[in-house]
Amino acid sequence: MEYEIKCTACSHASTPNLLDFKCPLCGQPLDIRQNSRFEKSQIRKENYTVWRYAKFFPYVREADIVTLGEGWTPLVPFSKTVCFKLENLNPTGSFKDRGSTVLISALHRLVEKTGGYISEDSSGNAGASIAAYAARAGLKARVYVPENVAGPKFSQIQFYGAEVIKVSGSRARVAEEAQRTAKPGVYVGHILHPLFRDGIRSLAYEIAEQRNWHSPDRVYLPVSAGTLLLGVIEGFTHLAESGILRAIPKIVACQTRQVSPLYHHMKSIIYRPPERLHSIADALVSVNPPLLGLMAKRLKAVNGDAVTVEENEIFEAFKELAKNGFFVEPSSAVAYAAYRKQLENEEVSESDETVIVLTGMGLKTTLRSD
Ligand SMILES: Cc1ncc(COP(=O)(O)O)c(C=O)c1O
Ligand SMILES: [Zn+2]
Repeated sequence: MEYEIKCTACSHASTPNLLDFKCPLCGQPLDIRQNSRFEKSQIRKENYTVWRYAKFFPYVREADIVTLGEGWTPLVPFSKTVCFKLENLNPTGSFKDRGSTVLISALHRLVEKTGGYISEDSSGNAGASIAAYAARAGLKARVYVPENVAGPKFSQIQFYGAEVIKVSGSRARVAEEAQRTAKPGVYVGHILHPLFRDGIRSLAYEIAEQRNWHSPDRVYLPVSAGTLLLGVIEGFTHLAESGILRAIPKIVACQTRQVSPLYHHMKSIIYRPPERLHSIADALVSVNPPLLGLMAKRLKAVNGDAVTVEENEIFEAFKELAKNGFFVEPSSAVAYAAYRKQLENEEVSESDETVIVLTGMGLKTTLRSD
């Protein structure tokens, strides 16, 4: 077998069912493990999408690929040592398309057999992304979102043809609702489903390839539910274990002060979420992420770091990015704000080769400039 789907917690042997999103024995998250090495010769050099790396997603059959041209996003120099990875330029406007193309490609035939509709929960971007790929695959989608979902994201999901259901209460309540009402459809919740997270591996492959297989010193990522973080760590680990990269970059998980469970866990401080979130980073809302334990374990294993930033720091970073021509979501500006903060605190040197992932597009924001 070129891959295995394994439980992250118990010793349950691999499950062969691609539709599973939690361990059939203990209910903990599943993980996909590659058994084959990364070989540069296996890259499809003429393909400029995630599917350039199709060989490393062996559970997707060629004929089943559902693509909108996601991936191979520009890595643009900002200063001598800092580059931005423009994930805002993906087809639905965020990095989530990497997860959706892999998830929907792997599952759409199976879903067709079981009734033809999928259910998902999301703060907005993943819902829009899954809705777009479902539309392309001819599947019906039902997307559960928090009551205060950003207007542009809500409309985007609707225009893709998905049914959108607003749920009041916490982000965890939205997930519960989506799982409860999925039947007879299929729950493909992007946070829990290992196939979605696995698609994010492609981001690490691209950063490495676009830098001519030289690892950067540092990579900054905004973190909420952890799919971006876990996927990127998995991709860099695969490259290092395959002997393609000499070292894994320092991965820096960037969180807002309000939503910072991983930061607190990493620094061994108790985290008390605010009663109500009121951050401009509206995509970062997972105060109690189901993958927290896994994130902490994996981030420690690669000697990564975690940072929090304040609201004013996010807003300043957002404006500075825009003034330099990079119009991204405030949630994405969190990563740049964290870099600036570490620079000021001399926790990072200006000479460190740094990649900052700009995860989502600015047109999704409801902020006004006056
Ligand atoms: C624009 C943007 N950036 C970052 C994130 C954080 O990703 P994750 O939830 O995988 O940690 C999200 C998640 O919704 C997002 O929409
Ligand atoms: Zn288990």
